[in-house]
Amino acid sequence: MLQSIGEHIWIEEYPFEFIGVVLGRRMTVIRLTDGNLFLHSPGEMTDDRKECLESLGSVGYIMAPARFHDLFLDGAIRAFPSSEHHAIRPIFSRFSSRAKTFILSEQMVPPWGAEIEHHDFRAGPFHSETVFFHRESQSLLLADLCFCLSDRTLMTQLVGRALGVSNRFAPTRDIRFWTTGCRQELRASIEMVLKWPFTRIIPAHGEIVPENGRQVFREAFRWA
Ligand SMILES: [Fe+2]
Repeated sequence: MLQSIGEHIWIEEYPFEFIGVVLGRRMTVIRLTDGNLFLHSPGEMTDDRKECLESLGSVGYIMAPARFHDLFLDGAIRAFPSSEHHAIRPIFSRFSSRAKTFILSEQMVPPWGAEIEHHDFRAGPFHSETVFFHRESQSLLLADLCFCLSDRTLMTQLVGRALGVSNRFAPTRDIRFWTTGCRQELRASIEMVLKWPFTRIIPAHGEIVPENGRQVFREAFRWA
């Protein structure tokens, strides 16, 4: 069920398990001033979900902001064939034959740009992610860059601890490792994000950071 978390922003959480780790997933939906909906990390497009979205507006733009966040993009494209689809470069080739499919990049001037800013976050050679800032709701939208897994199953706790994200909002340890040789780029991305006046952080997994988002984000990358 879509849940309203602000005047023009909704989330929907749904189960997602990967090798026994209960990650959960979250789709974020923003209604732009022209009535078009912006979907971040779309979930499986069931009839109910499609109907629910259609009751909110016209699905205009669908984002696949990181690897594995395109799992349900095909279904979303089929459900909303007139929408535009934007995917990060490493996964774009999967969808390049589809009409109205574009590479997410900072060079583009997106139709939603007056309301939602975006940045290609530099977090090492193996992490590709575009992050977004929705001005009206002061929300930072992340896919996998940082998240927090609260107590769930034993396996989830163990993996969460190993990754450094158990009960704390942080980037996973592998990001820390793989950015050892490119900290300058990483710091530039962190500074870029911290220029946005966000208060809330909505990752695609784990818990939402409801307030003090900039402080929490800064703290998560203090080591950088
Ligand atoms: Fe993810």
